[in-house]
Amino acid sequence: MNAIVRLNEISIAFGGETIYDRLSFDIRDGEFICIVGRSGCGKSTLLRVIADLLAVDSGEVTIGGRPAKQAWQEIAFVFQSPRLLAWRSAEDNVVLGQQLRFGPSVDRQTMHCKARELLGLVGLGGDGHKMPAMLSGGEKQRVSIARALAVDPKIILMDEPFSALDIKTRHHMRSELVEIWKKTGKTIVFVTHEIEEAIELADRIVVLSSKPTTVRQVMQLKTERPRDLDTPELKVVRAELQTLLNAP
Ligand SMILES: Nc1ncnc2c1ncn2[C@@H]1O[C@H](COP(=O)(O)OP(=O)(O)O)[C@@H](O)[C@H]1O
Ligand SMILES: [Mg+2]
Repeated sequence: MNAIVRLNEISIAFGGETIYDRLSFDIRDGEFICIVGRSGCGKSTLLRVIADLLAVDSGEVTIGGRPAKQAWQEIAFVFQSPRLLAWRSAEDNVVLGQQLRFGPSVDRQTMHCKARELLGLVGLGGDGHKMPAMLSGGEKQRVSIARALAVDPKIILMDEPFSALDIKTRHHMRSELVEIWKKTGKTIVFVTHEIEEAIELADRIVVLSSKPTTVRQVMQLKTERPRDLDTPELKVVRAELQTLLNAP
């Protein structure tokens, strides 16, 4: 697999404090990558760097071999909060994402058709007419996933997207996301501070150090999904990740 995202020795400082110190890693085309690290180590900032919402002080960020600033169309975001407009239906929220991205170059009917198709894919086939207030937390987050998919990005950046959901919904959403990823073939970059979530989801886990942040380790997981975290093999992985995260 080729690298679709390449972070090469990036450094960033905010107000004199070094956040990243020559941080490097690659993300392969089509892979599900999880980024874990302690609170404040720069996980969310890293997604902003990949999306070219934030410039690096030094180093290079390339998407498909091009500088990140030329590749914003390849990227869509899913945040911790679904960020839906309360006065637009689920379907209209998905369409809005496309309108903002494509403008008048795509006609409304095509956008609505795509929105309905993707709401179906995320399990909301009959719910497109509902307003956000009529949807549960998990359903709202499904709408925001559909909105991200609707602009047909190569890469979806997800910043702790399930952390505000109750535990049962969270588990359900994780397995659904794996199915969506398999069906769509997107590259997913998923930030989490929960080790179990990363083990359940990832092809590879990038473990960040504390600040000044570098990559502490990259761990490859080959176990078939759905994964049982209580197997001896994955218990070892969990213990290893815990040790890496606890190290000073
Ligand atoms: N725009 C900004 N200006 C100054 N400091 C920032 C800014 N954005 C993030 N930071 C700081 O950078 C560090 C990393 O933040 P963040 O990426 O949000 O961490 P994480 O998502 O891992 O919890 C934190 O110390 C935070 O306070
Ligand atoms: Mg964060």
